[in-house]
Amino acid sequence: LERRTGWDGQHLVNYEGFWFPEMFLPSIRSSRNNFVAKNTDIILATVPKSGTTWLKALTFSVANRGIYAVDQSPLLKSNPHKLVPFIQEYIGDEHDKLLPMENVSDPRILSSHVPFVMLPYSVAKSECKIIYLCRNPLDQFISLHHFFASNKIEKEAVPLGFEESFDMFCQGIIGFGPFWEHMIGYWNAHLENPKKVLFLKYEDLKEDIVLNVKKIAEFMGCPFSEEEVGKGVVEEISKLCSFGNLKNLEVNKNGYVMDGVLKNNTFFRKGEVGDWANYLSSEMAERMKKLMEIKFEGSGLTFKI
Ligand code: A3P
Repeated sequence: LERRTGWDGQHLVNYEGFWFPEMFLPSIRSSRNNFVAKNTDIILATVPKSGTTWLKALTFSVANRGIYAVDQSPLLKSNPHKLVPFIQEYIGDEHDKLLPMENVSDPRILSSHVPFVMLPYSVAKSECKIIYLCRNPLDQFISLHHFFASNKIEKEAVPLGFEESFDMFCQGIIGFGPFWEHMIGYWNAHLENPKKVLFLKYEDLKEDIVLNVKKIAEFMGCPFSEEEVGKGVVEEISKLCSFGNLKNLEVNKNGYVMDGVLKNNTFFRKGEVGDWANYLSSEMAERMKKLMEIKFEGSGLTFKI
């Protein structure tokens, strides 16, 4: 297998055309074979730094709205990643410390960053649904850059400079990348079967969260009733899960998720569209726009940037 050191110093390995953090590959492969999807499962598939945390909070709230009133939501006391873990946190290889799967109630909401072709085999065979979320790659890059800087995942690593990192990102050498392959894989799966795969973009969620929360609930098979809409439940959930609200909760200001590797507060940085313009030179931005043009040509996939 081809290996590279990622721009944050993480060890990356190329597997079936995608780059994976080497430390995650064994559990990704194990869950591909061993995870047994149920027809009622909702799988959140996301590009890292595209709003995974937000989507976890939203889907958790939508699914559990009959159980918890908004002011009693477990989100007020737990980071969204604790409430909706990654599949690999349940099904890993023998070296991993795993969460117990049998405690998860239906409908199970689980998440993954893997490309469509690397999802557990049982996902395609079952009637479970996939909610995909991605983001314009310019903002994704800036978000990743900050995330890596605040979480030293590889303790000994010497991270590359900004320009070199950007260059590697444009070459597709990033965990779960190339980003265009990731996006197009799910985009085509969505076009082929829109009832199985919902395709969301961070920019659209930012533009109209209420509309998108309704869309998510419908897709999950639990649409809001007229009564709920009348009572403002959709707005309440949107507000509960908003960047400003989650960022300022005590639970998200401190502590760690994923076995103490990542800091809670690093999942809430700025939460805006277009922050790239504060960091990228016009040459860098042009290079990325050109790359997107080439890679997405003919796919019908576009981004507001
Ligand atoms: P920025 O670094 O641009 O601020 P992920 O959850 O996939 O790791 O993505 C993290 C990105 O989503 C960060 O982007 C983070 O600030 C943003 N984010 C986290 N929670 C959010 C929310 N509730 N609403 C909007 N953006 C959010």
